[in-house]
Amino acid sequence: MNNPLLSLFPVTAQVKDDRLFIAGQDIVGLVRRFGTPLYIFDEATLHSQCSAFRDEFASLYPRSRVLYAAKAFLGQGLARMIADERLGMDVVSGGELSLAHKAGFPPERIHFHGNNKGREELELALTLGVGRVVVDNFHELSLLEEIASRRIALQNILLRISPGVDPHTHSHTSTGVTDSKFGFLMDRAAEAVGLAMDSPHLHLVGLHFHLGSPIYDVEPYQEAIARVLAFATEMERKFNFELREFSPGGGFAVSYTVDRPAPPPSYYAQGIVSALRRGMGEGKSEEPWLIVEPGRSIVARAGVALYRVGTRKEIPGIRTYVSVDGGMGDNIRPALYDSAYQALVANKASQEHRETVTISGKFCESGDVLIRDIPLPPLSPGDIIAIPVSGAYSIPMSSNYNANPRPAVVLLTGQGPKLWRRREHYQDMAALEES
Ligand SMILES: Cc1ncc(COP(=O)(O)O)c(C=O)c1O
Repeated sequence: MNNPLLSLFPVTAQVKDDRLFIAGQDIVGLVRRFGTPLYIFDEATLHSQCSAFRDEFASLYPRSRVLYAAKAFLGQGLARMIADERLGMDVVSGGELSLAHKAGFPPERIHFHGNNKGREELELALTLGVGRVVVDNFHELSLLEEIASRRIALQNILLRISPGVDPHTHSHTSTGVTDSKFGFLMDRAAEAVGLAMDSPHLHLVGLHFHLGSPIYDVEPYQEAIARVLAFATEMERKFNFELREFSPGGGFAVSYTVDRPAPPPSYYAQGIVSALRRGMGEGKSEEPWLIVEPGRSIVARAGVALYRVGTRKEIPGIRTYVSVDGGMGDNIRPALYDSAYQALVANKASQEHRETVTISGKFCESGDVLIRDIPLPPLSPGDIIAIPVSGAYSIPMSSNYNANPRPAVVLLTGQGPKLWRRREHYQDMAALEES
């Protein structure tokens, strides 16, 4: 059976005898072993996404680097995989930085982002030797200068610019617009460049922006690239600033539902590289390094959330709610951004969709709905709901709301499943409290 929904699942997904298989694993057997809710990641899909971004950009622009934006999902196993794929990493907190460090991730390949990095976080970053600090504001610039002044080596930095371009995505995930907490406003950015260039302990190597996420069209990137490169040229004239590195951030879209397909990495690579070359113009001695920071587009499709069906409430003429054993505690995106998902019933994978139901979670909020009004085969308690494209911004944004333990995370490899993160126990939550 060729189910169009399978295109949302990991590349190894198949339906056999009415059941969903991923990486050769029967999902029904897998949840019997690891329990639900469960997040699984497909190793083959992770590798293919890493290489797609790395190779598409490198083929068009050899001086390019891909950094995985760890906020989308981070664990030590994934960090090691990203390092093996020869990608760098973008981290936004001391916590992400120390996880990457614990996994042995090469620090020189790490860029440290964030709009309110604390003194301790910056100290840690410099102690561990991160490759770049992406400075977001004037306060950070002077704090970092002070911290760097106690060290021998110069710290390489980029400045994050807010280019004032609307990426046409959810307002909560738009970051490059003028009304945003992130980055230097264009009309104060010259002052920041001047200060950074004067700093005896910081070395300004380039400029960065990030517009938001997910962005389905390349035009907002192109508009922002033109603006930021024009600004760089002005800075060259004014301060003799040399743009050695340039980053248009991440934010590349993924297909969450079959009716809204996302463009492939090649679309973004072509659009970004052509705008960069246009903006650089002729006569530059050396092209800057291009740094892109995909997060969602590396991990989203590799991840699948698995839940077990519990109760059902039918409201005649209005809606039928079917509740599962997870919800907003492990995936806040539908409640936070109205994000849309689709689902497959892993143990009824080829059955006809004969009813329309709303998949709700088990958390004490009416807004705890994962998927509204979705056609599915008739559901019974114990059925396994598989929600594809769940690999990004679910586990990292998860909570212990209602004191629910967080799910386990399992990597599916060609050699079998590997537990990446165990399920939390009730004792884990009690362990943080003074008794
Ligand atoms: C600076 C920066 N880079 C990259 C990303 C990754 O975005 P995405 O996961 O949509 O690719 C983000 C997301 O917030 C970001 O803030």
